[in-house]
Amino acid sequence: QTAINTGKLNSFRKLLNTSFKTCNCLCMRNSSDVNKRFVSFDEAVAQRRAEARRSFVVQVNSEASFNELYGYCSKYASINGVHHYKNSVGEHFMLVEFASEDNLKEVIRSCSVHQKDIDVMALQSPFVWFRAVNDKKGAIVPNATLSCINGTEEVDEDVLFEQLINCNSVSEQIQTLYDKTALNDLGVRLRYMVARQLETVFESMYANVAVRPFGSSVNGFGKMGCDLDLVLTNVVTDEMSDPSKRLIFQEKKCEGGRSPWQRHMELVAETLELRVPGATRVHRILHARVPIVKFAHYFTDMECDLCYNNVSGVYMSELLWMYGTLDPRVRPLTFVVRRWAQTVGLTNIHPGRWITNFPLTLMVLFFLQQKTKDGSILPSFKTLFQKAGKEDIRIAEENLNCTFLRDLNKLPAETYGQSDASLEALLLQFFEFYAQFDFEDKAISIIEGIPVRKPNNLALYIVNPLEQALNVSRNVSFEECERLKLEVRNAAWQLDAGYDREKSDDWGLVALLEKKAARSLKRLLKVGNSQRLVSVKDLFNEDEENEKNGKSKTKLT
Ligand code: CTP
Ligand code: MG
Repeated sequence: QTAINTGKLNSFRKLLNTSFKTCNCLCMRNSSDVNKRFVSFDEAVAQRRAEARRSFVVQVNSEASFNELYGYCSKYASINGVHHYKNSVGEHFMLVEFASEDNLKEVIRSCSVHQKDIDVMALQSPFVWFRAVNDKKGAIVPNATLSCINGTEEVDEDVLFEQLINCNSVSEQIQTLYDKTALNDLGVRLRYMVARQLETVFESMYANVAVRPFGSSVNGFGKMGCDLDLVLTNVVTDEMSDPSKRLIFQEKKCEGGRSPWQRHMELVAETLELRVPGATRVHRILHARVPIVKFAHYFTDMECDLCYNNVSGVYMSELLWMYGTLDPRVRPLTFVVRRWAQTVGLTNIHPGRWITNFPLTLMVLFFLQQKTKDGSILPSFKTLFQKAGKEDIRIAEENLNCTFLRDLNKLPAETYGQSDASLEALLLQFFEFYAQFDFEDKAISIIEGIPVRKPNNLALYIVNPLEQALNVSRNVSFEECERLKLEVRNAAWQLDAGYDREKSDDWGLVALLEKKAARSLKRLLKVGNSQRLVSVKDLFNEDEENEKNGKSKTKLT
C-alpha cells in the first residue's frame, strides 16, 4: 500500500507476486513453480477442485465443538485444516480438509444416516452433522488451530467506512475496499464444495460429469456473498467414444420433441429438490437462451444458478481471471467501480434494463487497455489471441472459438503494466474517459482495445470478446445509458474537486461510495438533532423502498 501511495508500483507488484494470498488469486505455488510468475487458471482450478474432493462440511453446535470434532475425525484420517463459519441464521459449520481424497472416503464410510424413514431416504454427501454426546472422551487438544477469521461474513459497513476514513490516501482506500470485501479463501472453498456436492449426486446419472463454478466466484472479481454460477457438463471424450472398442453401453434416447437438455434440466431440478441436502427454493428458467435452474443453498447461504454445458462462460471467467492477475491494480479498480455503480443505483440485484457487473468489468478492462504515453496496463484480447499456441485451442458449445494464450508467462513484458499510475489517478481517469466517451457512435471492445464503430443503434454496445456478434449490454435502455453518462461525469467532478480531510470525514471514496441518505442520517446523529431525525429516518426508509423497486435512489440530501 505504501508503495502504491508513493507511486512505486513496481516494488508493490513484486511484493504482491511473492505473497501467496489464496483468496481471489486462487494461487498456491509449489517448488517446481518458483520461476513462474503467473499460475494458470487451469492449475488454480485443479487445485481448488482437488481441495474440495478431500473436504467435507460438518454442522456443529458451536466453535467449541472444534476439539471434539478434530479428535473424532483424526481417528479415521489425517487433517490438513479446519475452517469455521456461521450461516445467516447463526448455525455453526466447520469445513474440514483432509490430507487426501482416500482419507475423506474413509471418514465418509464411518458416517451414519440419521433415521430409517421413507420420507428421508438415505444418501451420502459431503455435508454432514456432528451428533452431540455426553461422554467427551474423544476430545483431544489438536495440534492444528481453527481458522475462523471472519468466516464467510461480509464486513460490517460501519467498520468498513471507518477504515476508509482512516486511510491516508484514495489509493489506500481503494486497496482497503478490495482487501476487506473480496471473496476470501473460505468463500472460494465453499463454492467448490457446493459444486462437488452436486457432482457426487449427478455422477451416477451422467457419464464423465463435472460441475464447475464460473463467473465472479472464480474470476477474481467476486465479493463476499456473491452468487454462485455453476455449469454442469458431461463431455464425451475421444477415449470414451473410441471406435476400436467393441463393447458399447446401451443408451437411453431422450424422446418427446422438446430440447433434450430442457428435459434433463427438469430432472436436475427435481433431483435438487429431492436428493440434494441444503438445496431449497428451486426455480426452473428453462426457456431462456441459456436454460438455468436457480436454487438457494441453505448450509452455505448461497444463491446458485446452474446451467448446462455453458463452457464459454467458464472460458470467459478464465479470461477475466487472467486480466485480473496481470496487474495488481485491475481487481481493486474493478471493485471500486462495481461498488460505485451499486451505490448510485446503476446496477441492481434484479435483472432489468440496467447494466450488470459483468459488462462493467469489461468497461474497466477496456479503459486499462488504452494507450498512455507510457504504454498500456492491459493487452488487447487480439494480442492474447495472436500469442496463442496449439495447446491453447479451445472450442466451446456451438463451435465457439475460445482460443487465447493461457500461459501469461509467455506474454511479452512490454504488452502490459506499462504505467505507474496510482489507483487514485486511474479511478479519476476511468471516470474522465467514460465522461468523454462517444457512446452514440462507438462500441467498447476489449478485442481491439480501442473504440470501434457501433454496428447498430442500441444504447450501449459492449462487444462479447468470445462471441463478437453479441453485445453483452444489449438489455441496457437509453435512459439507463444516459444515467451512466451522468453518473460518470458526476463522479469525475467529485473526485477532481478534491477534498479537505480536516473539514470532513466524507473524503475520497467515502463521499463516492456511501449512500447519501445514510450519510445525512449519520451527520444528524452526530449533532444529536433528534427532532429532525424522525423525518430523516423516513427518508432513509423511502430510499430502501426505492431500491427494492429498482428506482433511482440516493437522491436525498
Ligand atoms: N457471461 C457471459 N456473457 C454474458 C453474461 C455473462 O459470458 N452476456 C458469463 C461471464 O463469464 C460472467 C458469468 O457468465 O462472469 C456470470 O454472469 P453474472 O452472474 O451476470 O456475472 P458475474 O461476473 O458472476 O458477476 P456477479 O458478481 O454480479 O454475479
Ligand atoms: Mg454471478
